[in-house]
Amino acid sequence: MAGKQQEEMDFGAESERMKKRTVEGGLLITFEGGEGVGKSTQAERLFLKLQSFGIDVIHAQEPGSSDLGNNVRRWIKRANTSSPLAETLLFEAARAQLMFETVRPALDRGKVVILDRYTDSTLAYQGYARGGDLKTIKKLNDIATAEFAPHLTILLDLDPKVSLARVSNEQDMFASTDDKRATRVDDEGQRRFEEQPLKFHQNIRKGYLEMSKTDPRWAVIKADQAGHRIADAILKRVRRLLIDRDIPDTIFKG
Ligand SMILES: Nc1ncnc2c1ncn2[C@@H]1O[C@H](COP(=O)(O)OP(=O)(O)OP(=O)(O)O)[C@@H](O)[C@H]1O
Ligand SMILES: [Mg+2]
Repeated sequence: MAGKQQEEMDFGAESERMKKRTVEGGLLITFEGGEGVGKSTQAERLFLKLQSFGIDVIHAQEPGSSDLGNNVRRWIKRANTSSPLAETLLFEAARAQLMFETVRPALDRGKVVILDRYTDSTLAYQGYARGGDLKTIKKLNDIATAEFAPHLTILLDLDPKVSLARVSNEQDMFASTDDKRATRVDDEGQRRFEEQPLKFHQNIRKGYLEMSKTDPRWAVIKADQAGHRIADAILKRVRRLLIDRDIPDTIFKG
């Protein structure tokens, strides 16, 4: 088999290489939280802010930001995957592809990568909410990412009653237009996770809060504040991270 092709197939060696190289590489910042808590709004805001500081930054979402990811996103919205394991594997496949084609190369070049959802989403949704085995999901997460943990995870924490109302208002406003904010609704007008019972969303929230206590990479931010306040709180945490990485503080003044 030709050199490059062989290297791509041999994902055991590939993961080892990835673990070594990304230690010195860029920064991975992930956004987590339930439906409609403001992840995409804030991820985009942070992306634009860092870009305005002249930082080399990219922005992607899960599942999505790859051909496979976009198909998984469409599939998940339409289909009812009764097996939590099958659902998990779909997300992990999309994640592995995104890591391979976008995230890893960017990190290796020292970029800041902002991800709208990552491994913790699978633990929260398919684990805490759908009852999948957390240890198994952790293992699958590790395989898909070669154990690459984010440097910072922003958890936007909000009562699902409030966040679901936000999503529902948004749908009413944009459902009959081409506005991208209406993309939560698929061709058949279905919305998968949003339509789960409240308990499901409460379990997601509980799961996230539990995970956030286990590792200093988490920043829990109350998402019931005005958008600019949330953005300020996020920037404070990111600033600390960048200063730790010897990025001069002066870039924040401007
Ligand atoms: N701080 C805020 N206060 C009130 N509404 C907000 C706030 N932030 C975002 N919104 C609104 O809430 C809705 C959901 O926001 P957004 O799409 O950013 O959430 P999300 O977490 O990415 O949702 P999803 O999980 O479905 O991707 C949007 O209509 C957005 O304009
Ligand atoms: Mg979003």
